Amino acid sequence: SRTVARNADGVVTVGGLDVAALAEEFGTPAYFLDEDDFRARARAWHEAFSSEGIDADVYYAGKAFLSKAIVRWLHEEGLSLDVCSGGELAVALAAGMPGHRIALHGNNKSPYELEQAVKAGVGHIVVDSYQEIDRLAAIAESQGVRQPVLIRVTVGVEAHTHEFIATAHEDQKFGLSLNGGAAAEAVRRTLAHGSLELRGIHSHIGSQIFDTAGFEVAARRVVGLLAEIRDEHGIELPEIDLGGGLGIAYTSEDDPREPAEIAASLAEIVRRECAAANLRAPRLSVEPGRAIVGPTAFTLYEVGTIKPLEHLRTYVSVDGGMSDNIRTALYDAEYSVALVSRTSGAEPMLVRVVGKHCESGDIVVRDAFLPADLAAGDLIAVPATGAYCRSMASNYNHALKPPVVAVRDGSARVIVRRETEEDLLRLDIG
Ligand code: LLP
Repeated sequence: SRTVARNADGVVTVGGLDVAALAEEFGTPAYFLDEDDFRARARAWHEAFSSEGIDADVYYAGKAFLSKAIVRWLHEEGLSLDVCSGGELAVALAAGMPGHRIALHGNNKSPYELEQAVKAGVGHIVVDSYQEIDRLAAIAESQGVRQPVLIRVTVGVEAHTHEFIATAHEDQKFGLSLNGGAAAEAVRRTLAHGSLELRGIHSHIGSQIFDTAGFEVAARRVVGLLAEIRDEHGIELPEIDLGGGLGIAYTSEDDPREPAEIAASLAEIVRRECAAANLRAPRLSVEPGRAIVGPTAFTLYEVGTIKPLEHLRTYVSVDGGMSDNIRTALYDAEYSVALVSRTSGAEPMLVRVVGKHCESGDIVVRDAFLPADLAAGDLIAVPATGAYCRSMASNYNHALKPPVVAVRDGSARVIVRRETEEDLLRLDIG
């Protein structure tokens, strides 16, 4: 991130603090998050989507990483928040995010989650099934509320990303299909409920995407549905949400696009398609998660055992692993790694950075180079672990989830503390 440098001893500094001192104070493994970088990225998205001629809201996708501090920063920077569970909603509300700036997602929201969201006055709920439309209508009615909703549609785009995080092709659990007519039927059912206010259509095509072509197709198809709705029902819906999914650089081979460029191209497509369909251009929303928080944090590990396998590679074990970063095991994700507690002039050696879990798939960085004089006690950092690492962390092998430490202006502050054995034992009734 922007404030990373090396001091005279070769120790990496972040936000003016050196990692050796950070490790000493906060322990390892730990996630260090650059607050200024987070705020700058959030602001860049917000500004890009509220610049001239673009009428749009940015909902940060809380699933990427959420904590009370994050919610406060988002609020201060003018962003809204997408939550997809009662837990995320609770954190958002506890940190003071106004209800109207929260959107609720999910393919199987519980009645309790829907009730809590309606009670909190969330700006909109993205409905994802016929059953949910009826369920939510009943809840809104019982609370005497007319609840704004968007309908999540499946636009049939094959986003070029890993199968588990691509979401707009037909054969998966999210959304109501445009092709099969389920989306049009969901519109009819929603409009039939006086306690629901249909505000628009939602599409999310996948995650870690670099090519905006998929968004173009999605925008075109969503606008097509708006035109059909106008023709069938005589109403023009005021909003579309194109979801999240913009990719970040995990390694030097990834080439992400800037928010301003994305905003301009999405707004242009929507404008053009609406003009062609003779529709008023709707308000546009997006839901970036990874693109805001992903690059802002790195994980700091201490090297433990080092095992050279002749003619293969050297296995470098760290004090964390798949419990703090499941993405390599789950998606074959690629990360880089650097020695950060000193510089070394030694030759590079091919390594695989692995964790300490009882599983051979417990890999953090599959292929990387580290100096051949690497030794136990060295600190290594894996960058770009701000998104979907702490939020997908587990207690496998009763690992204690690492803390998240926010670094800013030469000071560091724990925003999510490290778990303790007492935390684990508290849940175990015996
Ligand atoms: N909006 C909706 C409706 C979503 O389902 C998602 C992500 C987002 C926004 C935010 O996507 P982003 O901008 O962060 O890519 N665990 C996976 C990613 C799963 C994404 C799920 N939905 C990973 O670690 O790559």
